[in-house]
Amino acid sequence: MIWLRRIRYVLWSAVGIAGFVAIAVMLGWWTVDGPGARATRNAAPASIAEIGGSFTMTDHRGRTVTDRDIRGKPTMMFFGFTSCPDVCPTTLSDMAGWLEELGPAADGLNVVFVSVDPARDTVEQMAAYLSLFDPRILGLTGTPAQLEAMARNYRFYYRRVPLDGGGYTMDHTAMVYLLNQDGRFASTIDYHEDRQTALPKLRRLLGIAPAG
Ligand code: NI
Repeated sequence: MIWLRRIRYVLWSAVGIAGFVAIAVMLGWWTVDGPGARATRNAAPASIAEIGGSFTMTDHRGRTVTDRDIRGKPTMMFFGFTSCPDVCPTTLSDMAGWLEELGPAADGLNVVFVSVDPARDTVEQMAAYLSLFDPRILGLTGTPAQLEAMARNYRFYYRRVPLDGGGYTMDHTAMVYLLNQDGRFASTIDYHEDRQTALPKLRRLLGIAPAG
């Protein structure tokens, strides 16, 4: 009988749809609020969450600086080298611009430039280079072993690349790290990131309301 078959078909469809909705709700619950959510949130960014920890370096005035010295204030941290042709000078000028824009609030921020080229970036070289940008930027250099130890904890990348005409350049992580006042990872600012998004990140980090 056609009408009976049709009713059976409608019933089975209803069961199918109900099942689908139930599964969707389950999945939704699972990823938004369920135990799966917590697992995902903790698992995926684990390597980012682990950014931070101890380091011992020498600043551009020749003083020893450790992770303890940057606690108590949030930190903007960037990695590079003074003979970098492009990424570093661009980012350091951006950083200097952000500091200017933040005004007096910038005093609540540590600004750190870590050299990934300790062979060429001596204390004197760092001081001369940073004087071109902003006096609030703290330059850090160190022994290759100190740099290696810091890179392990802060998970930044650097690699020496030989140049055709002799000499070398450095490949390095180009994003700016934002750390909270406990020295834990908070966020990043990308290379060439628009000041429209970079500044609110810094204001959030500093705990000050965005302007406007
Ligand atoms: Ni660079």
